[in-house]
Amino acid sequence: MTYEELMQKAIDAAKNAYCPYSKFPVGACVMTDDGAIYTGCNFENSSFGMTICAERNAIGSAIAEGKRKIKAVAIFSPVQDNCAPCGACRQVIHEFCDNDNDVDIILQSGNELKIFTLAQLLPESFSL
Ligand code: THU
Repeated sequence: MTYEELMQKAIDAAKNAYCPYSKFPVGACVMTDDGAIYTGCNFENSSFGMTICAERNAIGSAIAEGKRKIKAVAIFSPVQDNCAPCGACRQVIHEFCDNDNDVDIILQSGNELKIFTLAQLLPESFSL
């Protein structure tokens, strides 16, 4: 699957976001090392701290299918160009890769994709 196709799935997933409090929809699409893809959107709660980000929702679906290695994550919000993953999601992506340099994080502004490695977005990352 191309990164454009991955981004389209993130765009579609953002349409299902449940975000009545922030009104900030986010969609994510994760590709694992075997080429499988998993989508997620954010879903909020009246107890705000229980909100789940789109990225972690998608990663949870991959984990539930037994996948453990993330290759790429596309993220999209209709209300912010180049919507980047929050710090917590960067750390969760880090948990499921062997090397931060090998994970692409794909953002979009207009028709243009911007690609970072996880290493660029999470320097000096923490592992046990
Ligand atoms: N959000 C995500 O889904 N992913 C991120 O990486 C950043 C933030 C969501 C959480 C909340 O529902 C809304 O965006 C505003 O913070």
